[in-house]
Amino acid sequence: MSNVLYEVKGNVGILTISREKALNALNSEVLDDLNAALDAVDLEEIRCLILTGAGQKSFVAGADIGEMSTLTKAEGEAFGKKGNDLFRRIETFPIPVIAAVNGFALGGGCEIAMSCDIRICSDNAVFGQPEVGLGITPGFGGTQRLARLVSPGMAKQLIYTARNIKADEAYRIGLVNAVYNTEELMPAAEKMAAGIAKNAPIAVRHCKKAINDGLQVGMDEAIVIEEKLFGDCFETHDQVEGMSAFLEKRKEKNFINK
Ligand code: CAA
Repeated sequence: MSNVLYEVKGNVGILTISREKALNALNSEVLDDLNAALDAVDLEEIRCLILTGAGQKSFVAGADIGEMSTLTKAEGEAFGKKGNDLFRRIETFPIPVIAAVNGFALGGGCEIAMSCDIRICSDNAVFGQPEVGLGITPGFGGTQRLARLVSPGMAKQLIYTARNIKADEAYRIGLVNAVYNTEELMPAAEKMAAGIAKNAPIAVRHCKKAINDGLQVGMDEAIVIEEKLFGDCFETHDQVEGMSAFLEKRKEKNFINK
């Protein structure tokens, strides 16, 4: 049975990491199941994904410490690559991914949330990179994405001290966009996802690509990336539809992802 549940609501897909007995910790099997779940997403239909964890207590409590405890140097590197490949796949997945962080997001849990486009959390969420207390570095992109998302100084402080932070502090440092009561988190995530899904899908996908690819290069190159993707929109049905709707003062738009 898969450790990842996949549910479709309209044009939104909801992925739930479901290994509650280990607080949804990521072992190799969960990583494989997440990859398989992404394979199953129908990109013709689905316009936004939500990633969350099963239960009320934990989003993901990290990579599986039991599995990691006996790894050799080469196996450690391979396990890091397995996680990194998956998280990079999430980060570059063609459609937006919202992390709905419903509790502990520690180590690999904080790292998988950071590979998503947008993070929102419940008020019981706890974030942290506790790896140095286990004798390792963050291994699924934490040293890189935390420094880029918050600031190098804040990332270094959190990673070197291995201190966990609560939702309000995660919000203050810009690690999450918003904090909700536990019961309000999923409705808020679904509302946000539906708001994204109602827009022209190719334009949204191009925005994700422009932002992601542009952040990797200097401004002169970045702006050319945007120009190219902006231009590409003008050969889509949905550009004609979106602009016609405006000019005809029509509220309803029929975006067909073409
Ligand atoms: N790996 C494996 N099992 C885990 C786990 C993890 N990361 N986190 C929790 N579990 C398991 C516990 O072993 C426990 O299992 P048993 O019932 O079989 O003993 C079960 O989940 C429930 O956990 P606790 O009893 O510990 O629950 P708690 O409420 O007392 O504490 C917690 C919750 C503070 C999150 C605590 O479980 C904890 O500190 N977990 C580890 C967090 C962590 O260090 N994560 C980083 C891992 S390293 C990493 O992720 C490396 C990387 O970058 C790739």
